[in-house]
Amino acid sequence: MLISCIERSALDAALNQLERPIIFIPTMGALHRGHGELINFGVSLSKSALVSVFINPLQFENIEDLNLYPRTGENDLKVAKESGASLLWTPEYSDVYGENIDPISAGPLGKVFEGASREGHFDGVLTVVKQLFEITKPDMALFGEKDFQQLFLIKAMVKKLKLDVEIISHPVVRDEDGLALSSRNERLTENGRVAARVIYRALQTANGSRDPKSKLHEVLLSEKLFKLDYAEIIDENTFMVTKEERSSEVQRRAIIAGWIDGIRLIDTAAIA
Ligand code: PAF
Repeated sequence: MLISCIERSALDAALNQLERPIIFIPTMGALHRGHGELINFGVSLSKSALVSVFINPLQFENIEDLNLYPRTGENDLKVAKESGASLLWTPEYSDVYGENIDPISAGPLGKVFEGASREGHFDGVLTVVKQLFEITKPDMALFGEKDFQQLFLIKAMVKKLKLDVEIISHPVVRDEDGLALSSRNERLTENGRVAARVIYRALQTANGSRDPKSKLHEVLLSEKLFKLDYAEIIDENTFMVTKEERSSEVQRRAIIAGWIDGIRLIDTAAIA
């Protein structure tokens, strides 16, 4: 049975009833099949899965984006319920931040790739994630690998601040044609949706090739509707760009971002 609550006091009471370990799946709502699979995975790891839906103003660079962010409360409830979550927390701003914000800086890595075009975005993400961890005190927290830079920065924060929570990740959930699931996909035109297949094609072509970065660029640039922001090979352990071959020390990963129909799309995959 799913318990749904808003206020901190109701959350505390509900959390007290849950069996440990508690796995926490923070979201900003607009839940789709990708979130459903994430929650399902959480439920497979623990009987007690807490899902939060909070659109965090701190991680939006402009008010317009924040206002345009989809709010799909009834559907969020349905997805959380059907995926087997035990508790759904949909706090207001004051339930999360109270009177004071304890800001966290993402450091230099917060300013490159996704951070380069979204000033302060990752500072906002880390600030809310730490705050949510402090309130909910989960044993584990689950994040999707699609936002690989976010996942990396959250793991780094947990390590640096010695937070007592295990960070678990879940692979990118894809549509049948390989496109990574995202609420933004709904905004693509019919042609744009077809063109978006190029991203997965690029990841597949780069995997195992001798020069994966060139392959990514070659495939992505072959699609006229795709406007490239970046396509790089990084080392998963450091998030630094690498030209090294995969080895026991270097775990290569492709990261891609660009626009189709003005919609920003990102994707990632491990590269052999
Ligand atoms: O990935 C998201 O949905 C958000 O960045 C997160 C982690 C819920 C923080 O607001």
